[in-house]
Amino acid sequence: MVKKRPKVFVTRRLPEAVETRMAELFDVTLNLDDTPLDRSTLATAMTEYDVLVTTLTDDVDASLIAHSGPQLKLIANFGNGVDHIDLKAARAHEIIVTNTPGVLTDDTADMTMALILSVPRRLSEGERVLREGRWQGWSPTMLLGHRIHGKRLGIVGMGRIGQAVAQRARAFGMAIHYHNRRRLPEAVERTVEATYWPRLEAMLSRVDIVSINCPLTPETNKLINDERLRLMQRHAYLINTARGEIVDETALVAALERGGIAGAGLDVFEQEPAIHPRLLDLPNAMLLPHMSSATIEGRLAMGEKVIMNIRVWADGHRPPDQVLEGWA
Ligand code: DGY
Repeated sequence: MVKKRPKVFVTRRLPEAVETRMAELFDVTLNLDDTPLDRSTLATAMTEYDVLVTTLTDDVDASLIAHSGPQLKLIANFGNGVDHIDLKAARAHEIIVTNTPGVLTDDTADMTMALILSVPRRLSEGERVLREGRWQGWSPTMLLGHRIHGKRLGIVGMGRIGQAVAQRARAFGMAIHYHNRRRLPEAVERTVEATYWPRLEAMLSRVDIVSINCPLTPETNKLINDERLRLMQRHAYLINTARGEIVDETALVAALERGGIAGAGLDVFEQEPAIHPRLLDLPNAMLLPHMSSATIEGRLAMGEKVIMNIRVWADGHRPPDQVLEGWA
């Protein structure tokens, strides 16, 4: 008996090789002009397709899930974070949700490290000086930044990405501190000589750079708020490559403006793609357009994972990257 090919709807453009493979394997509808889908198109797709391939730009909330058709059985997210999908509602409707863990760990950790190096050393300020024709030649006091070696890094969220950041930072001579819901096994701590802080507040006031590497959940929403920013030292920096909503952006802007902290490196924002207008005016903030995982290798690997999850599910098995509620 020839098995029916699952009807798959892909909400954004994916690398060509991934789309082509999907077209070979599934009865697939692609979004070739790559415009983020409006709610009604998404809602319609959810009543017609067996599988929805989402990205972080799709807000798959409880109401959309409640109105989905009985044929929708799998949401195969192209990406790691699933904070844009209501997992509880999906479970209630017996829709499996999968993601693409592991394959963007190194790229995200590399970019985190790039910001850890770039912000204290004022790289984007330097580039602007040069491009705007303001460089008068070398001077002993020009664009002085801060040394990374010997500084304390406080990692908030010591999962796969947090640990990969710790390994990189250790190689740059930083001391590793971390806050996590659960303490890591001693053997893992030892590999990077990490110091565990059960209380985030205690860690924030002692480290020189804070790196946010936890997932966005109801518990981590606005975790770095005004009160916690005020605990950080005036010479400290904040790096966020996780999710914008974990940091209260208005409070962060205020902290940067009053010199409460020295600078910030941000790859993610509360209202993407909108950026807090005052952030754009701050020379001590380095801002990137959510590109931490943007490598060709990473995107292809993400595509392979999505395809694998759909195939395993279509064969009647539990897909390898099924996300369980409370995944964080
Ligand atoms: C993810 O997959 O969640 C990342 O944020 C994409 O960069």
